[in-house]
Amino acid sequence: MNLDLLSGDTVTTSAAARVVRGVDELRLALAPARREGRAIGLVPTMGFLHEGHVSLLRAAHAECDVLVMSLFVNPTQFGPNEDLDRYPRDEERDLRLAGDAGVDLVFAPAASELYPDGFATAVEVSGGLTSVLDGDPGRRGPGHFRGVTTVVAKLFNIVGPDIAYFGQKDAQQAAVIKRMVRDLDFPLRVEVMPTVREADGLAMSSRNVYLEPADRARAAAISRALAAAERQALATDSLAAGLAAARAELAAAAIEPEYLEARDAETLEPVDGLTGHPILVAVAARVGGARLIDNVVIEPPGG
Ligand code: PAJ
Repeated sequence: MNLDLLSGDTVTTSAAARVVRGVDELRLALAPARREGRAIGLVPTMGFLHEGHVSLLRAAHAECDVLVMSLFVNPTQFGPNEDLDRYPRDEERDLRLAGDAGVDLVFAPAASELYPDGFATAVEVSGGLTSVLDGDPGRRGPGHFRGVTTVVAKLFNIVGPDIAYFGQKDAQQAAVIKRMVRDLDFPLRVEVMPTVREADGLAMSSRNVYLEPADRARAAAISRALAAAERQALATDSLAAGLAAARAELAAAAIEPEYLEARDAETLEPVDGLTGHPILVAVAARVGGARLIDNVVIEPPGG
């Protein structure tokens, strides 16, 4: 949209998105749009944008009058032994891509802006959604999702979006955020967009830069395994056969999954067969220097 309406400044013709670092400044910039009842869209990201992020931005741009992208590598969702320090960053490129995709405002705060001294509050979705798969204490743990829901709740309060966009690539994260929105009555709609993949099927991820060429080639087995799971499960009417086919694909590429599990796509409760509801088959695996996650949803036949 015309930035004139956002800021009261002179009209700008530049495609570059405006960067805002402060919470108050962002609220001020959005006030006119909010007064006029314009639809505000939010795409939360940690930056180092790829086509997966851009697909969310495009969907949001098509549906909303004002588009905000947040760019913040959120320290509270990283464990002590995780990759916070080496997480890839390229703000200049991100701002260009965001501008090209129709982003009006990029909210890129310093950590101290979102977590000032004395910060002591967390938002936690408890129970089975956050203690399984990546939330299993032996893996990233529930603390990872506590970090995600805390920062996303803050972003929702700061931006006040009508629609917020997330990727199916992080299926558990999307399920957790949907539950938080429902439980805490956030007045917004959550849209979950399909996973964008490389030509060989590898799900796009900022972390794919950690892959050496040989590992990058091997990593394509993860999406092949998920495709095999879906195909075999539907062909044989057996979820177990689907999971076995997926394991075989991974083994052929010498990939030992951290987990490969089938769960109800909404509740993440375990399932031991095709239930007539959508089933999430989720995988996490370390391939070389990268921990990769991916998933497929098996829809009930004829559903
Ligand atoms: P990040 O990993 O940067 O991802 C930002 C958004 O892009 C998430 O909703 C994610 O699911 C989506 N996404 C990532 N790869 C995708 C792909 N290949 N196809 C489609 N969508 C994809 O997820 C986070 O950041 C953070 O946890 C965040 C929600 C920003 C909170 O800090």
